[in-house]
Amino acid sequence: MKRVGILTSGGDCPGLNALLCSVGKNLMRQGYDVLGFEDGFEGPAFDRCVQMTDNWFSGLLALGGTALRTSRCRPNKMTVDNRTVDMTSDIVENCRKHELECLIAIGGGGTHKGALMLQKAGLKLITLPKTIDNDLACTDSSIGFASALRVATGAIDSLHSTAGSHKRIMLVQIMGHRAGWLTLSAGLSGGADVILIPEMPYDIATVAEALSRRRNEGNLFSIIPVAEGALSIEEKKQYDALLDAKASSKGKAREAAKAALAKFDSECSQRLIRLSEELSARTGMDSRVTILGHLQRGGSPSSIDRLLAAELGRECAMAVLDHDYGKMIALQKGEYVRVPIEEVAGRRKLIPPDHRWVQSAIGMGVSFGVPEKS
Ligand code: F6P
Repeated sequence: MKRVGILTSGGDCPGLNALLCSVGKNLMRQGYDVLGFEDGFEGPAFDRCVQMTDNWFSGLLALGGTALRTSRCRPNKMTVDNRTVDMTSDIVENCRKHELECLIAIGGGGTHKGALMLQKAGLKLITLPKTIDNDLACTDSSIGFASALRVATGAIDSLHSTAGSHKRIMLVQIMGHRAGWLTLSAGLSGGADVILIPEMPYDIATVAEALSRRRNEGNLFSIIPVAEGALSIEEKKQYDALLDAKASSKGKAREAAKAALAKFDSECSQRLIRLSEELSARTGMDSRVTILGHLQRGGSPSSIDRLLAAELGRECAMAVLDHDYGKMIALQKGEYVRVPIEEVAGRRKLIPPDHRWVQSAIGMGVSFGVPEKS
């Protein structure tokens, strides 16, 4: 019997179940036995798996989340009895025990780092792109982004009427600590007035000026999507200094820099509230904050994600039949290509300042809070 394993890893999102159905059904029709590992890389580490059958897939396509469940565990850092244990060789061993031709790992940046570790330890893998952040390197699209975009755009649409009724500034926090793809695309499709993203550090005076200008022109409210990782110019300097400290130090100093960076991330909502208060003080307008949070990862997958899942599943099955391992199936300029996992792992796709979505937003008068001269 030809056999493969499959798992979902990292943050969940709508479209994962559709992808499991698509990969599984394509491979089963080619005579493969498909084992589904539970809880991300924990599944193969502790040998927790289910046999996929036609019955297992029944009714799954339109459900959000992942029926295999997921985790953010790395192969080399798993918690066992309150200790951090390297389970890399256990994963490889369990995959051998099940006589898997390869392991299919569905995930984003962290998953690809894990996949590369396992590949270096001798495991054959194929990976599939998943992230609502859309920041995975080497692919134009990833499962989850389109569904999250639908939620975020719907939220901006809904905020318009209450913003207008109360003449308020509405700040809405959208997921993405490093990349602003979701914030930018939701802002553009929802008709935002100011968009704040990690790739373009903002100047608070410039943001306040844009809001006051709008009000003086008779626009009595403003909508501002703010990415989790959006930083003012000053905050970005502090953040970069911590990154440098982490890169250049060792031991305790490095751990301290890492902890400070993690604190920076965990304080994104407090930063947003401070920004809201500051903008209110500078413009004299009332302001409110909405944090979309995990609503963006919930619900049924969009049609776009279901179509992407259908195509990725077929492409993945073709790579398995070709024994073309060590690759991520990526979408580049409308074509599916197989990219070596080492080209994806450890890299991040950020928004270039001249991206057409940035230019389109600027063309419609959206401010990114970037001062003229910078
Ligand atoms: O990695 C995707 C993502 O949704 C980010 O946009 C978000 O910052 C993060 O996950 C939230 O992670 P968690 O669900 O672990 O809180």
